[in-house]
Amino acid sequence: MQQDIKRILISRDQIAQRIAEIAEQITLDFANETSGDITLVPILTGSIIFVADLIRLLPIKMLIRLISISSYPGSTTTSKVALIREELTNLPNSLENAHVLIIDDILDSGQTIDLVTSVLLTKNPASIKTCVLLRKDRPNTLNMPIDYVCFDIPDEFVVGYGLDYNDYYRNLPDIVTLHPQVLQADNA
Ligand code: IMP
Ligand code: MG
Repeated sequence: MQQDIKRILISRDQIAQRIAEIAEQITLDFANETSGDITLVPILTGSIIFVADLIRLLPIKMLIRLISISSYPGSTTTSKVALIREELTNLPNSLENAHVLIIDDILDSGQTIDLVTSVLLTKNPASIKTCVLLRKDRPNTLNMPIDYVCFDIPDEFVVGYGLDYNDYYRNLPDIVTLHPQVLQADNA
């Protein structure tokens, strides 16, 4: 696995430091929500490590509901159609009075966050905020109003810290790029 890494884009120390800052902001912003539940909605699977680290820095009473999104077909590095995977999703029927925070690993085309936001809006939440670990430098992503962005990165394919390539590399502690020959077969 290590030999597939081209370079470390964001180190585990930088990630930890930035998540602490974002957690402080989120805590301040949500501290005033005295009415209704605070409901975090992590998007599976890419956000799992980010969410695990983030929520332990949020001294807030909260619920966690999961949503799983699949992009089909499953194995390229380019954007695809996003669909909800119902079997891994446990959203309540209603989010009335809930202050929702959607959490994803990366904002790329924006399709995933758009889809999740529209699904959650049908459940009438009191408010919706969005949080991503990474935002790719693409023209459309900068037009999307994301409330919390940990890092802006170049438009490159990255893995690690929850992000995958064909479901591998999620366990790398740093956010890294891969050698072109690792990605090559797929994009040929
Ligand atoms: P979007 O719907 O195009 O914004 O893409 C978001 C989803 O695509 C993320 O939740 C990731 O699962 C996946 N994705 C986009 N870019 C990358 C990347 O550079 N590495 C790994 N996964 C990515
Ligand atoms: Mg993903």
